[in-house]
Amino acid sequence: MPAGVTTQVSDTREADKAPVSPLHVAIIMDGNGRWAKARGQMRTLGHKAGVNALQRTIRAAGDLGITHMTVFAFSTENWRRPAAEVSDLMGLLRTFIESDLGKLAKEGVCVRIIGQQDGLPKDIVECVRKAHDDTRHNSRFFLQVALNYGAQADVVEAAKRFAAKVKSGEAEVNDLTPETFGGLLSTHDLPPLDLMIRTSGEHRLSNFLLWEAAYAEFVFQDVLWPDYDRVHLEEALRIFKERDRRFGAVEAGHVSA
Ligand code: FPP
Repeated sequence: MPAGVTTQVSDTREADKAPVSPLHVAIIMDGNGRWAKARGQMRTLGHKAGVNALQRTIRAAGDLGITHMTVFAFSTENWRRPAAEVSDLMGLLRTFIESDLGKLAKEGVCVRIIGQQDGLPKDIVECVRKAHDDTRHNSRFFLQVALNYGAQADVVEAAKRFAAKVKSGEAEVNDLTPETFGGLLSTHDLPPLDLMIRTSGEHRLSNFLLWEAAYAEFVFQDVLWPDYDRVHLEEALRIFKERDRRFGAVEAGHVSA
């Protein structure tokens, strides 16, 4: 295989090799607006409370044996929100990086921000760079924040990268496999996704980790994100452990009807 082609995350595991507890958990942190509305407050207050919930969840996740967490902070579609809300969300990310990064770095958390940098305010791009630089040597817990992220765009970018490799002679068309394609996605060096959580009672993926979620278990929890706490994460892990993950296989001894 040509040197320019790497193989990375693709979920072709066998059931007996899957972890009993999820190692990589993704969260769609939904319900901030409704939480604020229920209190007669501005939506921004819900997002602020959402950051506190995220801090609690990161700590609980580390305690509960989760090693990798990917959270959806801002989608490519969220630009359709009022400019003031977009600006407040960017401000929260800036504050999160400025005030929490030092603490997270000391606790051994490696922070990576995925998504398109084009279109982000310059100072946010600088925050992204700082987060990567300050925490890249950490390995106790891996936090991936999806910002200006859309899974379809990520897949399209990966396809373009592969096409460019073919054009330059670095790769051949037949080098493209689920593994090599996974290696071109922004999530390329993370373990396969085990568990996808969405809060607030909605049951959609909303263009989040479409490729990576191929064999993830889905848990939808009827709690608004700002109220999310360790007990909710524990509940999600309990549900996960009850699931029978077969990865498309049939259990030996269960061949006949
Ligand atoms: C969905 O709730 C939530 C978002 C679009 C933003 C999530 C962001 C945070 C939790 C805080 C920022 C994160 C970081 C890393 C600083 P919604 O607004 O769609 O709620 P609704 O469906 O009730 O209106």
